[in-house]
Amino acid sequence: MLTCFKLRFVYVCLLFILGGNAQMVQMDATKTGYVGSQVELRCLFVNSNPPVKISQVTWQKFLNGTKQNVAIANPTMGVSVLPPFKDRVTFKHSAVKHRTPSLEDTTIIFSNLRLSDEAAYICEYTTFPAGNRENMVNLTVLARPVTRMSLSTPTIVARASSQKMTVATCLSANGKPPGVISWETRLKGEAETEEIRNPNGTVTVRSNYVVVPSRETHKQTLTCVVTYYNERIADSVVLSVQYEPEITIEGFDGNWYLNRQDVKLICKTDANPPVSVYHWKMLNGSMPTNAEIRNNTLFFKGPVTYNLAGTYICDATNSIGTRSGLVEVNVTEFPNIPPREIPQESRSSGAIIGGAVGGVVLLALAAIVLIVVLRRRQRTFKGDYSTKKHVYGNGYSKAGGMPSHPPLPKNLQYPEDSDDEKKPAQIGGPMGFEVSDQDFDGQDLKRPYFTVDEGESHEYDERTLAFQYGHEPDINDDMVSQTDGSVISKKEWYV
Ligand SMILES: *[C@@H]1O[C@H](CO)[C@@H](O)[C@H](O)[C@H]1NC(C)=O
Ligand SMILES: *[C@@H]1O[C@H](CO)[C@@H](O)[C@H](O)[C@H]1NC(C)=O
Ligand SMILES: *[C@@H]1O[C@H](CO)[C@@H](O)[C@H](O)[C@H]1NC(C)=O
Ligand SMILES: *[C@@H]1O[C@H](CO)[C@@H](O)[C@H](O)[C@H]1NC(C)=O
Ligand SMILES: *[C@@H]1O[C@H](CO)[C@@H](O)[C@H](O)[C@H]1NC(C)=O
Ligand SMILES: *[C@@H]1O[C@H](CO)[C@@H](O)[C@H](O)[C@H]1NC(C)=O
Repeated sequence: MLTCFKLRFVYVCLLFILGGNAQMVQMDATKTGYVGSQVELRCLFVNSNPPVKISQVTWQKFLNGTKQNVAIANPTMGVSVLPPFKDRVTFKHSAVKHRTPSLEDTTIIFSNLRLSDEAAYICEYTTFPAGNRENMVNLTVLARPVTRMSLSTPTIVARASSQKMTVATCLSANGKPPGVISWETRLKGEAETEEIRNPNGTVTVRSNYVVVPSRETHKQTLTCVVTYYNERIADSVVLSVQYEPEITIEGFDGNWYLNRQDVKLICKTDANPPVSVYHWKMLNGSMPTNAEIRNNTLFFKGPVTYNLAGTYICDATNSIGTRSGLVEVNVTEFPNIPPREIPQESRSSGAIIGGAVGGVVLLALAAIVLIVVLRRRQRTFKGDYSTKKHVYGNGYSKAGGMPSHPPLPKNLQYPEDSDDEKKPAQIGGPMGFEVSDQDFDGQDLKRPYFTVDEGESHEYDERTLAFQYGHEPDINDDMVSQTDGSVISKKEWYV
């Protein structure tokens, strides 16, 4: 029994302790609501066994270290909502209002929220015999920003001297927390953003989009995006930038020949607003008599004559200004390119073939120039044969005897005339270039042996030949060119 009693006593004791802790006030930790909306501030008394008696419930606003009563519920006296909150705070359950003893749920509904309502709210239960129990909810009041986008000026005029200017402004006014502004546009420019803190805790964000107005900025869409929590508020404008006419004159293809029919000049303009007046004139003198002006086009009736030649000027005017364009027309006796006869495709393929042929010719020309240059440098050689061999030697030598080569200096020939050189591989083939390169390297390495100046000297005057390249003053015919681009002293031939 004692054990049992003891067990029972322990059980009861435990229950008592648990019950003491279970008496608590349940509330949300935080709550948010928009300005003007309503919010429910929950407050529940979790009672225990044995139940305690609730004698009063008090709601208080707690701000900046001071408490202010909001509402009081008393089981016998009823409900009291204090003046600043009288119209905006009510108890959720009518049982509270009707003085029924049940005060377990004293949730209040706070309507028409103001920014100044942001505070901590305490719900305090006065009980007997357990004493006071309280809890707190932090109420945050949000203000959705007002978004507005505007063009800075109704008309933006682009001029050559245009400076950076604000073309559009985006405003996210009185947001709490502030809205975040971003711009979406293909227009090159920069955003200048500033934040203004209002006394009531809201923030106004203003962003200016700054660009240098130009023809290119015309018709560009500018979108301002204000992000506020998960909301995305976008507003767009299309920039209308005005600018003077930009002129190109079309119609003259450089091929106005005598008796060609139906030629015309067109004054093409890009302008905003559109061009209102076109004016055609000639730089010197007056318009040909067969010229007829219709808006932006100058028609020439009948066949082309030399009278049409001259410089034509088109003045185009819109409300921003006047700009001029000119074209110089010349007239030829005959067509310079056969026009229209060649279909587009074959003309282009012809151009490709022409280009390829041109490339080959150019390459061959470059090869010849290289050979000539090499030879000039080689002719300046002034060393003995062994040195020269060292410089130019590539294991190939004609010194061993070439009976076919006539001994007369007159008939000494340069490689391009020799039989060997007629083999195409040795004219322009890669080998020829490689050997030449080696020669260059060799020359550079053996630089002390010969210079260009030395080559100018007339050491071997008696043997000087008139060389076919007329502009070359000094031809040292003591050297015999080899097919590989090297030269061998003529003395060597006689050995
Ligand atoms: C909070 O109190 C401080 C001084 O204690 C005061 O300067 C401040 O203005 C108060 N703020 C509000 C919102 O009342
Ligand atoms: C609620 O506000 C009080 C005072 O303003 C602060 O001390 C407390 O940390 C806040 N609680 C929460 C959960 O934000
Ligand atoms: C906050 O203040 C700004 C100006 O100071 C005002 O325009 C705005 O309406 C106010 N916001 C609220 C919600 O009272
Ligand atoms: C005629 O004009 C075209 C285009 O301006 C130019 O290419 C050509 O050389 C001119 N011909 C003469 C003969 O001036
Ligand atoms: C055209 O005008 C230029 C300069 O204005 C002048 O030098 C030239 O002689 C004129 N030509 C004719 C054919 O009048
Ligand atoms: C061209 O000019 C005629 C009058 O000469 C006018 O009726 C017409 O609208 C003009 N067209 C354009 C495209 O400006």
